[in-house]
Amino acid sequence: MAVGKDTIMLGAPGAGKGTQAKILSQELGILHVSTGDILRANVAGGTELGAKAKAYMDRGDLVPDDLIVDMVRARLQEDDCAHGVLFDGFPRTLPQAEALTQVLQETGRGEARVVAIEVAEEELVRRLSGRRVCRGCGHISHVDSLPPGQVTCPDCGGELYQRSDDSPEPIRQRLQVHAKQTEPLLEYYGSRGGLLRVDGTGPPESVAERALTALRS
Ligand code: AP5
Repeated sequence: MAVGKDTIMLGAPGAGKGTQAKILSQELGILHVSTGDILRANVAGGTELGAKAKAYMDRGDLVPDDLIVDMVRARLQEDDCAHGVLFDGFPRTLPQAEALTQVLQETGRGEARVVAIEVAEEELVRRLSGRRVCRGCGHISHVDSLPPGQVTCPDCGGELYQRSDDSPEPIRQRLQVHAKQTEPLLEYYGSRGGLLRVDGTGPPESVAERALTALRS
């Protein structure tokens, strides 16, 4: 299958997938689709999917594959996905990766490129423990880069909040789930020949520069 425009962002919780996806989707002119964001919107909106997903998310476990694959399949049918998608947080299990390969094949979108962002575990825990997200615009920040006591978004002035799964026990669980269920995807995509490994340390702009260089080479 020829390589298409769709791009997958792999990385442990806190590796900076969301931060990078915002920069890279703009640079590459493709749509940012985050399964975590779609699920959180469903939880906030009180939908049936949100009700099914909430308990898994709060514990730091993965939402069942069938729910996720149906959700992504439906999202890919929308018009705004026609020019390419940057997948953030999907796929996360081997069955999800195989389902995506099949969907891309069936719809003639071509093979996805895969960027794996690599960050040491100690730094992941630091990043997740201090993350703040804006309720208004979704801007992602970290307490270490905000003036002490700031509770509003530096971009839009919206309220900053801490995600319910960014507390110690769910963080531990998410990292364990990632090691067990998502890391095998490195081998899956490595063997298909589309895997680009990128050092995720240093300022976000430097990480984005490395990812873009890898994607364009
Ligand atoms: P999801 O929302 O995808 O969460 P995650 O994978 O745990 O990833 P995060 O959003 O926590 O981290 P990130 O890598 O995006 O880092 P970020 O850029 O925010 O999923 C949440 C839950 O939904 C899952 O646990 C699961 O239950 C469910 N789910 C979602 N998709 C699913 C699927 N496919 N299958 C099944 N279940 C699914 O950055 C983190 C922090 O680091 C921020 O504070 C940021 O400011 C900081 N930072 C970022 N880059 C840098 C840098 N270069 N240097 C210093 N700090 C940085």
